Amino acid sequence: MTSPAAPTPAPTQDELKAQVGRAALDYVVKGEIVGVGTGSTVNKFIDALAGMKDEIRGAVSSSVASTDRLRALGIEVFDANEIEELAVYIDGADEIDGRGYMIKGGGAALTREKIVAAQSRRFVCIADSSKLVNTLGAFPLPVEVIPMAVRRVIRQFARLGGIAQVREKDGLPLVTDNGQHIVDVTGLRITDPLGFETEVNQWAGVVTVGVFGRQRASVCLLGTSSGVRTLRFG
Ligand code: 5RP
Repeated sequence: MTSPAAPTPAPTQDELKAQVGRAALDYVVKGEIVGVGTGSTVNKFIDALAGMKDEIRGAVSSSVASTDRLRALGIEVFDANEIEELAVYIDGADEIDGRGYMIKGGGAALTREKIVAAQSRRFVCIADSSKLVNTLGAFPLPVEVIPMAVRRVIRQFARLGGIAQVREKDGLPLVTDNGQHIVDVTGLRITDPLGFETEVNQWAGVVTVGVFGRQRASVCLLGTSSGVRTLRFG
């Protein structure tokens, strides 16, 4: 008599990230330079990209952390200013909605991420299924701010009903790769990502708001327990 096979355990979040990191290789254009984001999901992509490093010219990176990882794996990293346009930018998200709008910046790299996304023809978002939302705003919205404007920006968010806090690291305000601070804002429901991004971007002292409206995703590879789901946005 044989005993029934044990049920396959559901993939962990880490496995889902690795799955979409590998799937993103299909979007890398051979012979070209690829835009690379930041975060734990992108780290899986970078590790997978190492397997095809001889088929690409190199990468433009959105953070010191990603640059270090790419170089350690033997992938050449170019300055964004050296490259006019990239075919594709691959990055994670903290939230993505059904139109490809995202909240990003959980890893404090939002400004450079927006720059590399802006110079790319296509943004391929890689995320596990927990990141898909109906309306942006449950994840605390990161905003990169010039230090002398932090209190003022916090007061401006309070007028919109948001509660903003300076992000800390080791008990001190976190300093980004660009030498600025991050405020994380809770209590917002962002129903008009493009309008919201435009408004907050105009506040004095705001470097970048973590709503990716203009730089929204073209495609999202979503890691689910039944495999990679591809969402395409018009
Ligand atoms: C970094 C980001 C990341 O893409 C975002 O925080 C998702 O990270 P992870 O893949 O670790 O969940 O915007 O600034």
